[in-house]
Amino acid sequence: MTGTVTVPAGFLWGAATAAHQVEGGNVNTTNWADEYHPRATVSEPSGDACDSYHRYPEDIALLAGAGLTAYRFSIEWARIEPEEGVVSHAQLAHYRNMIETCRQLGVEPVVTLHHFSFPRWWRARGGWGAPDSAAVFANYARIASSILTDVTWVITINEPNMMVVNSESTVDTGTGVNAPDEPDPSLARAIAAAHHAATEVLHEQLPGVKVGWTIANQVYQAVPGWEAQRDAWQYWREDFYLEQAREDDFIGVQSYLRTVIGPTEDARGYGPQEWPEGTDRTLTGWEYYPEALGHALRHTWDVTGGVPMMVTENGIAASDDERRIAYTTGALAAMGDAMADGCDVRGYLHWSLLDNYEWGSFAPTFGLIAVDRRTFERTPKPSLVWLGGIARGGALPG
Ligand code: BGC
Repeated sequence: MTGTVTVPAGFLWGAATAAHQVEGGNVNTTNWADEYHPRATVSEPSGDACDSYHRYPEDIALLAGAGLTAYRFSIEWARIEPEEGVVSHAQLAHYRNMIETCRQLGVEPVVTLHHFSFPRWWRARGGWGAPDSAAVFANYARIASSILTDVTWVITINEPNMMVVNSESTVDTGTGVNAPDEPDPSLARAIAAAHHAATEVLHEQLPGVKVGWTIANQVYQAVPGWEAQRDAWQYWREDFYLEQAREDDFIGVQSYLRTVIGPTEDARGYGPQEWPEGTDRTLTGWEYYPEALGHALRHTWDVTGGVPMMVTENGIAASDDERRIAYTTGALAAMGDAMADGCDVRGYLHWSLLDNYEWGSFAPTFGLIAVDRRTFERTPKPSLVWLGGIARGGALPG
């Protein structure tokens, strides 16, 4: 399909992963500790994941061979700083090799410093709630900067808004307490302070670097008449984080779905609406709604006041790869419309390069590439070839 919108020169076409979801053997994280806890609530642990810790050259080569030009991956804090203040030069060298592998294959690395997983010592010292958490995170950014000398795109923190919204334990603590009713503004402010402190360090250390964070955009829509409640619901779940990016070099937009806010039976009286019986859903149970990406970009553009954007995640959990192509076609068309209307979008990074560990289960398959759970053999899906073709042509589906 040939569209009317052609992306600007230098537009990044790629795919994304996160260390804990693909590397395997990530034993020094709190995630690992919780997954293997006797009262773990996840359906399966991450184990060897995709063994990308060893197989990343093959992953990046498959991406490049298809015609994609960018790889977003995260570096694992728990490996780089295994104990507070202890730097692993061997692990830094490992991630430096990943960057060099990208460069050798003509792939632009987009590096995330923190994608949901924490070193065990971090939780033990109080996590984001510790009074010096921003300084400790900024120190990690300083350590990481030593291998990022020629990297242009750096993401400090992935989806801080989801971290706050989902701040429940994945271990059954026996208290019956699960996700808090409301996101905690003090936690949000602590993470924002860490983002700003890390951004300052990266700018000091890496002239020319572009630094931002990535926000899960939920496309909050209102039942007619419930706009004020929608805005209230949205502020501490999304807009606060978009506002924090106003001075950033770019912002990562991550979009999968929409959420409709309207009347509810609980004490608050408003909140997300249930999807009607028969709604077309994906493997994660989310509504099939490819248009979400266009809304996400427009909303982010409006709230940030025009900060350059990169789509750092967009995709669908689907066993039928044709459905992945159909979803992505719709999402790219919506992105093209937003760009035609003036949104400045610098790249599109599909989630995900691989079928990976979806934070509790391998069942929801988001990958452009299938991975055998035992042999780790990679099998590219037609969607990888298809997305590479779009990247080579440069025109968006219209
Ligand atoms: C996260 C990914 C996750 C994806 C699909 C995003 O919230 O950044 O780690 O796998 O959504 O659920």
